[in-house]
Amino acid sequence: MLLSSLMVTNGKATDLYAGIDLGTSGIKVIIADSDDQVHAVASRSVNTKCLHDGWNEQDPDEWWDAVCACLDELAQRKQVMARVRGIGLSGQMLGPVLIDKSDKAIRDVILWNDGRSVEECRELLELVPDIGLRTNCTPDPGVGAPKLRWLYKHEPEILDRADCLLLPKDYIRLKLTGERFTEPSDAGGTMLMECADSSWSAQLCEAAMWDYNKLPPVSWAWEPAGQLRDTLADRFNITRGITVAAGAGDNMACSIGVGVAKPGDCAVTIGTSGVICTVDGSFKPLPDKAFLTSHHAAPNAYLSMGVVMSATASFEWLVSLLGETTESLSDKIDALYKDGRAFESPVSAPWLSGNRTPYNQPGSRGTFTNVSASTDASMLGWSILEGVAFQFRECFLHQQEAGMDVGKLVLVGGGANNLLWSKMIATLLGKPSILPVGRHLAACLGATRLAQVAASFRHTTGVDAVNDVLCRSPKVEFEIEPDKQLFEPMSERFEQYQAIVNS
Ligand code: XUL
Repeated sequence: MLLSSLMVTNGKATDLYAGIDLGTSGIKVIIADSDDQVHAVASRSVNTKCLHDGWNEQDPDEWWDAVCACLDELAQRKQVMARVRGIGLSGQMLGPVLIDKSDKAIRDVILWNDGRSVEECRELLELVPDIGLRTNCTPDPGVGAPKLRWLYKHEPEILDRADCLLLPKDYIRLKLTGERFTEPSDAGGTMLMECADSSWSAQLCEAAMWDYNKLPPVSWAWEPAGQLRDTLADRFNITRGITVAAGAGDNMACSIGVGVAKPGDCAVTIGTSGVICTVDGSFKPLPDKAFLTSHHAAPNAYLSMGVVMSATASFEWLVSLLGETTESLSDKIDALYKDGRAFESPVSAPWLSGNRTPYNQPGSRGTFTNVSASTDASMLGWSILEGVAFQFRECFLHQQEAGMDVGKLVLVGGGANNLLWSKMIATLLGKPSILPVGRHLAACLGATRLAQVAASFRHTTGVDAVNDVLCRSPKVEFEIEPDKQLFEPMSERFEQYQAIVNS
C-alpha cells in the first residue's frame, strides 16, 4: 500500500491482459493489449433473485460459474490465451460477500440495489453522527454497513459462521488465486473504512455489528493480489504463475478504462445503474446529497459518484414490457425525435429501485405524468431516457456546486451506444462529451489496465509510471456537443420532473 514505493516496468507489445467485469446483469471477460485493442470477448448473463419489491440478491457461485464459462470459451483461442500476462477485475459494488473458514460463500449476496435495511441506516446515523463525512456516504440501504446490521438482527447465525467479508470482485479473485484481499475503491462501500486514508475502523465495525478481525487485508487496485492457480491456468490455456491485480469497483474500473484517473476528469457510466464519476485530488464527501466518495483505482485520487439507481435497468424494463428489443425501441425513439414529436411525451421519474443521489429515498418508486390516449411506445421510451438524463443533471449540478468542475465528459457503458441518449445527457450537463471506442467494455478495459500495471509491478519507485497506463487517453469514436435546440425544451421538462420530486 505504499504509493512512494512503486515502479512499473513496461511489458512487451505482444503481451495481453484479461479483464473480468462482474456486472449486475452479466459477466464479461475480454482479452486486450496495452493499447486497449480488444482481441477476444465472452459474456454470460446472471440472474437476480427479486425476493420482494426492493429485495435483490444474487448467488456468488453463479458469478463464478459464469466467469468460468467465459474463460472456457476464450480458452479455445489458444494463441491469444498463451499471450495473457495478467488478469484484472471489475465488479458491481457494495454487496457484502460473506465467506466461511473454508472460503465458501455462506449466503446469497444482498445487492447494491436492495432497499431492506432502511431502519438500520437510521440507527447507524444515530450511533455515528459523522459517519457520512468519514465513510463513503450517508447510510443508504445500498451500502454495506446497514446490510450487516440487518443480518445481525435477522440472520445472526450467518454472521457467526462468517469468517471474512469481501466485495463481489474480491470473491472472484479468491476463486482465481486462493487469496483473500480487498482494495479501497470497493472497500469504501462497506462503510467500515475511514475513506480519507482508506483504513479499517474498529468503531465503524462495532456500529455495523461486524467483527473487525474478520476483515481482509487491503492492497491498492493496481497492485498484484495473488497468482492464478495452476489448475485454472492449465484449464484456460494461460501460462502458469501470472499475476492477478486487486482490481476495482465497476465505476472506478469504467473510469480507468477510458483514462479518467486525474482530478478534473469525469466519466458518466450508463449501465444497469448510471453514475457520474468525478475525480478529485482530495476526499470531499457530500453525504447530504447522498454521493458516494471513495479512493479511486488510481494513485492520489478520489472518486465522487452521483448514482442514478436505474439507468439501462429502466429502459430494459420498458423494452421487455412492450415486447420490443433495445434496438427496435431505440429506432422508434429516434424516429419520434426526428418527427419533432418527442416533447409530446410524458415526463417520467424512472425510479424503479428508489433513488440515491441527491434525495436518498430508497423507497420511492417511478412515475409517468401526462399519459394520454395518444401516448405510444416511442414516447414512453423517450420519457425514460430523458428521466434518466434528468437525474444525471441533478447529480452533476450538485458536484459543480461543491466546486468539482470538469472539462470534457467521457460517456461509457452499454447505454452510451445510444447516440440520442448520449446527446440528451451532454446537453443537460452542458458539456462536450467523448464517446470512446469500446465504451460498452470500459469496465473490462479498466480491469486490463490494472492487470497491466500489476503484471509488471515492482516494489521500488514510480507513481508516474502507474499513471502512464491508467491515465492513457481512449481512442475517440464520436464527440458530441450540447445541442442548443434540445436544451430549451428539455430544461422546461426538467422543471416538470423536479415538480414530481417535490410533490
Ligand atoms: C454504485 C452502485 C452501482 C453498482 C452497480 O455505488 O451501487 O453503480 O456499482 O454495479
